[in-house]
Amino acid sequence: MKILVINGPNLNMLGIREPGIYGERSYEALVDFVRGVCESHGVEATFFQSNHEGAIVDAIQEAYGVMDGIVINPAAYTHTSVAILDALKAVAIPAVEVHLSDVSAREEFRHVSYAGMACQATFAGYGFDGYRMAVEYLLEHRG
Ligand code: DQA
Repeated sequence: MKILVINGPNLNMLGIREPGIYGERSYEALVDFVRGVCESHGVEATFFQSNHEGAIVDAIQEAYGVMDGIVINPAAYTHTSVAILDALKAVAIPAVEVHLSDVSAREEFRHVSYAGMACQATFAGYGFDGYRMAVEYLLEHRG
């Protein structure tokens, strides 16, 4: 199984940005963690991080016919991007949404998720472990 792990804007600043919310571990540590999870399940993982909405749309489109699943933390674009929602719907690859923080317990504007409307499940508020849950969800629900 091939999984594309997409992280949106400012997640490259993990460890530096608001550590009280997002933790003290870096983006590289996140990639190492998720890669370890994937290796333990025999999953081939590809990682993509961008601060640019269109680049994320491009990455989703390029996954068509190549990837079997997408794990996506669209970060701030979660709450604004119809383009990312439409890209996920266009490729129709099974996708799972992840948020490090519990977005439902934060500001009102974080309660809406456009990307989530095209995802099979959401894991929010579990930190890095949410990515493990997402990978395992895709494995358990693969067609
Ligand atoms: C986030 C939550 C978003 O609201 C925020 O804009 C982020 C990160 C999370 O992982 O908790 O950048 O997606």
